[in-house]
Amino acid sequence: MLPSLGCHAHRFACVYRAGKSVTFDADSTILKYMNILVIGGAGYIGSHVARELLDRGHRVTVFDNLSSGLRENLFQEAAFVHGDMIRYEQLVQSMNGMDGAVYLAAFKAVGESMVKPEKYSVNNIVGAVNLLNAASETGLKYIIFSSSAAVYGEPAYLPIDEKHPTNPENYYGFTKLEIEKFLSWYDRLRGIRCASLRYFNAAGYDVKGRIKGLEQNPANLIPIIMETACGTRGGLQIFGGDYDTPDGTCIRDYIHVSDLAAAHALALDYISANGKSITVNLGSEKGSSVREVLETARRVTGKPIPAAVSDRRPGDPAKLTASAALARELLGWEAKHSGLETLIKTSWDAYNQA
Ligand code: WQD
Repeated sequence: MLPSLGCHAHRFACVYRAGKSVTFDADSTILKYMNILVIGGAGYIGSHVARELLDRGHRVTVFDNLSSGLRENLFQEAAFVHGDMIRYEQLVQSMNGMDGAVYLAAFKAVGESMVKPEKYSVNNIVGAVNLLNAASETGLKYIIFSSSAAVYGEPAYLPIDEKHPTNPENYYGFTKLEIEKFLSWYDRLRGIRCASLRYFNAAGYDVKGRIKGLEQNPANLIPIIMETACGTRGGLQIFGGDYDTPDGTCIRDYIHVSDLAAAHALALDYISANGKSITVNLGSEKGSSVREVLETARRVTGKPIPAAVSDRRPGDPAKLTASAALARELLGWEAKHSGLETLIKTSWDAYNQA
């Protein structure tokens, strides 16, 4: 038995909200405040997305199997279902009465995906197919999908725009690209509108400090630097110091998770208002090297953060930066919090308090 969803289970049960206007806009077709299932909403990015949707007045239900998500990332104003997308009936039950879903739940460790493809096939691909079939069955109209810059593979040119060829170099990126294709078929055949959001390097923590759950065993640069600053790790390995970049270390496009979260809400508005699906990059359009990130972290934290250059990590391109022109144009979105200083400061606030 799943827990009761209260008013979240009834699409039109909450038409009036305390002190707020009606749910429908003038033409009675576009829902302003929606019932949204945030699948993976207890995770790092998911909790920021849930917070943003709540802040904008949507009714949120978080659906999460807590394999990497954390109870401390849940909000009182959101309902919670401890469920797994692999269990189709659970998903259907939770999607009844929902207008849209944000689909974040996925395994995302690039290295692991190359040695355990089966795990990624089941969780990422089967999960996505379940979501789409459940959307058909329940009449869910909108899906916001966490895609990734990993769909592009080795860059043929920079900055990468959405027309760049897609040629993933790891199994994780392959799963994201395949899911995008499933979504576009279900758009065509079932009228389910979707926004595929291709994230570059997500980083930082809620700028208002409301999200405190730290990722377990992180594999990404900034959380590793934070753990080193806290003393829970001995030091940072800099993967390669001889790249063809100004300081010899790799350059990436770090995008603040609060900026990402805002884009999810805007994408939901866009696909519901325009009745069409979109695929857009989300990046800051600024490149930062590993050394720049490290030096900023040393300055902001006041900690020495020991680091040493080691071998290159296989599969790392020297430089990756996004063009986010399409997100600006379609969504009116821009990265507001993605300066290196803010990325590090908000991360440090979360790690330092933990
Ligand atoms: C950033 C830079 C490393 C760790 C990954 C996925 C990508 C997307 C974002 C989800 C690189 C260097 C890292 C360390 C280091 N994910 N580094 N020492 O690989 O750019 O992107 O996350 O969709 O698909 O591939 O991110 O944080 O692992 O690395 O020197 O201990 O930091 O070499 O240059 P990456 P990352």
